[in-house]
Amino acid sequence: MKTRRLADTFGIAVDGVQLARLDEPQFGELHDLWIKNGAMLVRGQAAMTDAEFEAFSKRFGELDPPPNQGVGRKNVPGFPDLYVVSNEVDKKGEPLGALGYGEAVWHTDMSYLPVPPIASMLLARRLPPSGGNTWVAGMCGAYENLPPALKERVKTLRIKHDGTRDSGGNLRKGVADDPNPVTAKGQPHPAVIRDPGTGRPALFLGRLPRAYIVGLPLAESEALLDELWRHAFGSSNVYEHRWTVGDLLIWSNYSTMHRRDAFDGTAIRRMHRSQIKGSAAPVAYFK
Ligand SMILES: [Fe+2]
Repeated sequence: MKTRRLADTFGIAVDGVQLARLDEPQFGELHDLWIKNGAMLVRGQAAMTDAEFEAFSKRFGELDPPPNQGVGRKNVPGFPDLYVVSNEVDKKGEPLGALGYGEAVWHTDMSYLPVPPIASMLLARRLPPSGGNTWVAGMCGAYENLPPALKERVKTLRIKHDGTRDSGGNLRKGVADDPNPVTAKGQPHPAVIRDPGTGRPALFLGRLPRAYIVGLPLAESEALLDELWRHAFGSSNVYEHRWTVGDLLIWSNYSTMHRRDAFDGTAIRRMHRSQIKGSAAPVAYFK
């Protein structure tokens, strides 16, 4: 397998493999590369069928069903565990996928749950001529690169990850809106978790809108979150992916974060996504 780095602190691209045809030792090698690097890009998988994509995903673990968004569950027809991320609509104007064409802010997938999925995979099926790039950040590097005082300060804090809205800013189905971060529905997680892949400390931030550092006065929580966010996404620690049809991107949902650029809504972008179930809640690195 030919490899190259995606960013200085994390991420790897693997070239020259057909993911649907890996034998056990080859899959083991690939899995190991993903574990060690947090995010992995494999290009050239356009011929992979949805059944093959599902089977490949299952080699990483049990699949997590798609979230129930404001627009309802949007799965690939015939594949309840594969999720459609797309701005396409049917003849009645009903969305065929989730997330529309707007920007999706930095987040980890479904961290409003006690046990978020451990990994997510995106397979590019249709793309707009430009825009819609996906950005991935390495959160082990983000913690490592914090100024020493801030590193010390966040060690044992817990951050509540907002459960009211998705990364596109849409209210989740069946959830009451609450603009107050202190009272808004969400899931507290340790601010610094142990990356299950490498055992290293990783900053676990969730999304910024409506995040809250448990127990702090709101103004103090907001100021500290702003400071953490200012440091987390430096260029050495971020990879911008310009998609080609057939690209498959896998990320650890515990040691990386991602966001998406907006794109022209008159063009169609269609990604198929799978998610791998987490086996335990994110664990605090510092007790
Ligand atoms: Fe996401």
